[in-house]
Amino acid sequence: MPTDSFTHTGAIELAEGETPAIRFNRIVKRFGDHTVLDGLDFTVRKGDRVTLIGPSGSGKTTILRLVMTLEESQDGYILIDDKPLTHIEKDGKRVALKDKHRSQMRKRIGMVFQQFNLFPN
Ligand SMILES: Nc1ncnc2c1ncn2[C@@H]1O[C@H](COP(=O)(O)OP(=O)(O)O)[C@@H](O)[C@H]1O
Ligand SMILES: [Mg+2]
Repeated sequence: MPTDSFTHTGAIELAEGETPAIRFNRIVKRFGDHTVLDGLDFTVRKGDRVTLIGPSGSGKTTILRLVMTLEESQDGYILIDDKPLTHIEKDGKRVALKDKHRSQMRKRIGMVFQQFNLFPN
């Protein structure tokens, strides 16, 4: 694995009929010329606790921001509970879903900020 971008995280074999909590399907994320995620396939099973490990700048936060819809990918698809998060494939084309759909999806996802001063003391 290159140190500056995620390309592969290890395939997970799903049982027949098993729907993962999170699925990244060939996700491409660029900031300008800098490709951070280069066709990332990434699956999280329901009930799993997953740790993203990698050097600073390798794209860990970008993955989480994509799940939160705080970033938008340039290609690929993200499914949450088997439902498309921001885009669907329609007639071979990548189609953006409406804001209403996105906000409904976002209600199902929570996050805790890294530098939230919950306990200042
Ligand atoms: N908003 C942004 N604009 C430009 N580059 C960004 C932006 N956010 C992240 N990056 C770049 O994307 C890469 C991955 O960043 P990030 O996901 O924060 O890595 P990590 O969390 O693994 O340290 C880094 O090279 C970072 O500089
Ligand atoms: Mg980070």
